[in-house]
Amino acid sequence: MSDEDAKRNAAAAALDYVEDGMTLGLGTGSTAAFFVEFLAEEVADGLVVRGVPTSESTRRLAETHGIPILPIEQVERIDLTVDGADEIDPGANLIKGGGAALLREKIVANASDHMVVIADASKAVEQLGAFPLPVEVTPFGFTITAKKVYDALCATGITRPKVKLRELPSKGTPLVTDGGNYILDCSCQVIPDPRATAVALSVIPGVVEHGLFLNMARTVILGDSEGAELLEF
Ligand code: A5P
Repeated sequence: MSDEDAKRNAAAAALDYVEDGMTLGLGTGSTAAFFVEFLAEEVADGLVVRGVPTSESTRRLAETHGIPILPIEQVERIDLTVDGADEIDPGANLIKGGGAALLREKIVANASDHMVVIADASKAVEQLGAFPLPVEVTPFGFTITAKKVYDALCATGITRPKVKLRELPSKGTPLVTDGGNYILDCSCQVIPDPRATAVALSVIPGVVEHGLFLNMARTVILGDSEGAELLEF
């Protein structure tokens, strides 16, 4: 099985949740990109939807494929958001942000009536934490913020976390998000109490957002080579 097939199958299954006239949150990442491409085929066939992108890359992709875009400032509510994830636990809690879009992803998901997560089945885990948790921070004071993040992780039961500034590959300069911020990737191995960690991170000045998406997804679609498994929460 190729990961690509699994992602493609998950993305295709999410189309069943789309209805004519919907305002749709469009996620970021390789799986979400498949969904945008499938959605574009439906739009070309006459489906009427408006997309709210969660990143500049998704905005460009959607525009290139002819999906009408709605700036988030003009949106009061979003019917459905379809997005990927880096890890999914048995309660549909997620780690997101591997693609550095976690802030916009969380704003859009939180404004949505329904969040559908699409992923290849390897993203399903028993416990969150093997994937480094992304934390978006302001550039101002980020070294101080990084120490506070480390302390918050330790205080919520994470053993010897590693907090690392995300850099652009081969350039050695910080990656800057669409919102002009930096990302701290926090290797935790296991996050024993995701809710406590989420709360502890949220109250640190300089932390803009973290990649724990708790109790947000209502549907998880896990793709494999055969098709896709749907889980409703
Ligand atoms: C983007 O910031 C992320 O939250 C992605 O949704 C996540 O990294 C999944 O990406 P892939 O679909 O490329 O695995």
